[in-house]
Amino acid sequence: MARILVIDDEPAMVEVISTLCRELGHQVFPFNSPERAIEALPGCMPQAVIADIQMESVSGFDILKACRDLNPMPAVIMVTGHASVQTAVEAMKLGAYDYVTKPFKIDELQLSIQRALDFQCAVRENVYLKKELKERYKFENIIGSSPKMQQVYSLIAKVADTDSTILIQGESGTGKELVARALHFNSRRQHHPFVAVNCSALPENLLESELFGHKKGAFTGAVQDKMGLFEEAHNGTIFLDEINSMAQTLQTKLLRVLQERVIRRVGDTKNIPISVRVLAASNESLHEKILTGGFREDLYYRLAVIPIEIPPLRERLEDIPLLAQHFVQKIAVQNTTPVAKIQPEALEALACYPWPGNVRELENAIERACALCDESLIKVNDLPTQVVHRIPTPAGETPAQLPVGESLDSFVKELERRFIEETIRFNEGSRDRAAKMLNISMATLYRKLA
Ligand SMILES: Nc1ncnc2c1ncn2[C@@H]1O[C@H](COP(=O)(O)OP(=O)(O)O)[C@@H](O)[C@H]1O
Ligand SMILES: [Mg+2]
Repeated sequence: MARILVIDDEPAMVEVISTLCRELGHQVFPFNSPERAIEALPGCMPQAVIADIQMESVSGFDILKACRDLNPMPAVIMVTGHASVQTAVEAMKLGAYDYVTKPFKIDELQLSIQRALDFQCAVRENVYLKKELKERYKFENIIGSSPKMQQVYSLIAKVADTDSTILIQGESGTGKELVARALHFNSRRQHHPFVAVNCSALPENLLESELFGHKKGAFTGAVQDKMGLFEEAHNGTIFLDEINSMAQTLQTKLLRVLQERVIRRVGDTKNIPISVRVLAASNESLHEKILTGGFREDLYYRLAVIPIEIPPLRERLEDIPLLAQHFVQKIAVQNTTPVAKIQPEALEALACYPWPGNVRELENAIERACALCDESLIKVNDLPTQVVHRIPTPAGETPAQLPVGESLDSFVKELERRFIEETIRFNEGSRDRAAKMLNISMATLYRKLA
C-alpha cells in the first residue's frame, strides 16, 4: 500500500481518481485546494502525486516544484486537458514521471500509477543503497593507526572534496581502490557515478573504445554507437586502476583528455565535453617506468597533481591487530555469526609475517581462519601455514632469520619437509587430504616423506 496525494480543483475529478487509487489498495490524500495540498506534502510524504496541470490559483508546475523539495521526491503524474499536452511535456522535462490526458481510461491511469510506484520503489532502494555505500566508504573504515597511515588519512581528508587529479601508488592489496572510493564518496561528486576501470584487463584497442566509446562502424563489431566510461562517469569520478599497464598510444590520448577535458569517441570527429574527476592507481613505481621509457613523463605530472603513497603492510606491522579485528567483525556481520576472538599467539604470528599480498592477503587469511576455527576462537593452527612459519609467498620479501651458510639444496629440502609436515598436521594427519592441498600425488608425498 502506497500513499498517494491527489490534487484537482474539480471535486468530481478528485473523487474519481481517489476511488480508483483506493481500488488499487492505496491510501489516498485528496485535495481540492492546491495550496493546502502543497502545505500537506512534507507531512504526508507520498510515494506518488497525481495533479491537474491547470488549476485556477496554482499551476501543476508549482506542485511539481514542491515535490522536488521532498527527499525522496514522489513520482508525479500530471493530468492534462487535450490542449495542454505541450505543457505536460514541459513538466516531464522538469521531473514529472508521467502524464495522462483527459478524458483518460481508468486502466490507463491505473497502469501509470503502478509504473510510477514501481519506479519510486527503485528510486528509494537506490537512495538506500547509496547511503549504505557511503557508510562503507567513510574514512573511519580505512583502518590503520600507524604514523604512515595517519599521514595518508590527513592527506585524503584534505583532498577528497577537491577536483584535483590524484595518483595513488602502492603494492597490490594495500587498499588503493578503497582509498579511491573513499575520495569519491566524500566529495561533492558522491551522488554521481564512480566508475572503476582496470587498465590491465583489456587489450589496447578494446580499452580505448571502453574508455571513450565508439561510433557505429568504427571497426568490425561496432554495430552501434557506444558511450564510453568517461561519458558514463559524467559529473562523477573515473578510477583508472593499474594505469602503469596502459599502452603508450593510449597514454597520449588520455593526456589529451586530461588537458582539454573533452573526449572523442573512436571513429567520430566530434568532441564531447566532460566533467569527470580522474583518480588513477599504479602498483609499480611510475618514476622507474618513466626512466625506462614505459610511461610518458608529461602524463605522470598530469596524473600526480596530488600523489598518495600507500605503504606496504610490512612497513606498518603495528596496524595488523586493528585490521585483523576489523576483518573479524566484518566477517561476523556478513555471515551473521558471533565475532571470533583471536588467541594472543595467533595475533603474534599475524603481526610477524611480512604479508607480500598486503591487506588483501591478511583479509583472506582472517576469512579462512573464521571458517576453520572452533568455537569462534582463532588459534595459530587456523592460520595459513606460510603465516605460521613466516615464509612469505614468492611476491614477498625474504624473512629476516635465514640460515646463511647452508647449501641451497639442503635449505630447500628442509623447508619442504617442514611445509609438508605442517600441511599433514593441518589436515589432522590425513596424508590423502594433505596431498590434495599440496597439489601433489600420494606417491610423490610418500617419496618425499621417505
Ligand atoms: N586500511 C584498510 N582498512 C580496511 N580494509 C582495507 C584497508 N586496506 C585494504 N583493505 C581491504 O583490503 C582489500 C584490498 O584492498 P584494495 O583497495 O582492493 O587494494 P588494491 O587496490 O591496492 O589492490 C579490500 O577488501 C579492502 O577493503
Ligand atoms: Mg586494486
